[in-house]
Amino acid sequence: MEYEKNKSSSKSSSDKVLIFDTTLRDGEQSPGCSMNLEEKLRIAETLQSLGVDIIEAGFAIASNGDFESVKKISDTLDGPIICSLSRAAHKDIDRSAEALRFAKRKRIHTFLSTSPLHMKYKLQMEPEDVLDMVIDSVSYARNKVEDVEWSPEDGSRTDHDFLCRCVEGAIKAGATTINIPDTVGYAIPEEFGSLIGMLKNKVPNIDKAILSVHCHNDLGLAVANSLAAVKEGARQIECTINGIGERAGNTSLEEVVMAIKTRKDLLPFDTNINTEVITRSSRLLSAITGFSVQPNKAIVGANAFAHESGIHQDGMLKHSGTYEIMTPESVGLNKSTLVMGKHSGRHAFKSKLKELGYEVSDNHLNDAFQRFKDLSDKKKDIFDDDIIALVDDGIADSGDFVKLNSLSLECGSKGPALAKISLTVFDNIEEIEINGDGPVDAIFKGISSIVEGNYKLQLFAVNAVTEGTDAQAEVSVRLIENGRSVNGQAADTDTMVAAARAYIGALNKLIIKREKKSLINNLVGK
Ligand code: KIV
Ligand code: ZN
Repeated sequence: MEYEKNKSSSKSSSDKVLIFDTTLRDGEQSPGCSMNLEEKLRIAETLQSLGVDIIEAGFAIASNGDFESVKKISDTLDGPIICSLSRAAHKDIDRSAEALRFAKRKRIHTFLSTSPLHMKYKLQMEPEDVLDMVIDSVSYARNKVEDVEWSPEDGSRTDHDFLCRCVEGAIKAGATTINIPDTVGYAIPEEFGSLIGMLKNKVPNIDKAILSVHCHNDLGLAVANSLAAVKEGARQIECTINGIGERAGNTSLEEVVMAIKTRKDLLPFDTNINTEVITRSSRLLSAITGFSVQPNKAIVGANAFAHESGIHQDGMLKHSGTYEIMTPESVGLNKSTLVMGKHSGRHAFKSKLKELGYEVSDNHLNDAFQRFKDLSDKKKDIFDDDIIALVDDGIADSGDFVKLNSLSLECGSKGPALAKISLTVFDNIEEIEINGDGPVDAIFKGISSIVEGNYKLQLFAVNAVTEGTDAQAEVSVRLIENGRSVNGQAADTDTMVAAARAYIGALNKLIIKREKKSLINNLVGK
């Protein structure tokens, strides 16, 4: 059957665009971006404060870790819809349903490839069998939960008539959201907008589902494609914080949301996002994953609101509208204010955390307050950003198998650097003196000769938290062992101490992974 224009359908009248965040699923698929359960929960809680409508918490069948994090997020959060991804197989859908069991509001997202290329080479299936499988998987999911999303993978390269048949079939089988992915980031805005317009016009039951889009950024067009789709009737955008995701990433949440907010004249839509939480979300994700954003990145880059040239500064002083299309405050970028010092007490510290948007447990508070006190002994002025680094640093700690007792260094322009390191490893004190090609090399070599393993350093990045020579350095380290990568972060006024602690933080996570792996191997008798 050829699809004709659907006479009853019109462009969606609602002006609300739902924000579906997939940082914890597609975002986590970025190489080196894997997060542990505690980190995922922190991100999910922040996404809840950010006001996202749906959180795709993971791909429940992909691993036990994914299952546990979907479950934990489902059990803990009570605002957004929690979603789990599944292929079309019943066992995938069962696993998602199980992980989502206690979610207050839940969604199963199931997908199947529909493009000629994917059907022929990846699925090795005939189109008619694919269509049957779409209907079967959606009906099966709909028997488990009320809210089912279906995606035709590689949708933007799918034959239009076949896409219409699959979408119509999925809706008949019970899908409540139809999500059209530009899986390989191939589409051009006009073309992608027309594809959405075509579905709106031709699929007879399209009004029974919300149309969603999921764009990848291989050509740098993910945000533009998502906006073009919204203009044609899509009412859900799938996106990630900082645009992380497979390959070049996904539509960046902060960019698409701020475009909608800033250009109401051309985009008369609304989202539920509390845009003031954007900067905090972006920083937390960077701290956890070790993926810092490029300085000129829109909305959340360090230079996004900086005005360097004299002409621009002069204009800004006369009227901020001359060079600023949105205020830094609207994305939660407040001037880092001088907050506290040596004499600030626990109570003041707690209220400051609250003001910065952190709700921390008593244990976490005690720990952060102790580190704040240590910092105020070393640094006279403590700014908001110092406090944020302190708290984010604490979040990253996981397990105390290895602890740094002390570190001293001899280094400079002459000769190799010498590191003297004392660690506690599983309650034993271990010490080493070691030379290296510079202080970082000496420290990392020293730690890895005490804590042996097959791991390699993949990333080492340093960021100054505030201005000034006494600024804290925030160090991110990524280690990889047998294909599994972990990140560690730490902040300290001494860059080398931060480097050592970040390295140890990553090692502690590796040890957890090793223990889990050997537990699983024991269970399966390997
Ligand atoms: O990019 C893609 O096609 C996806 C689907 C699973 C929605 O991530
Ligand atoms: Zn994707």
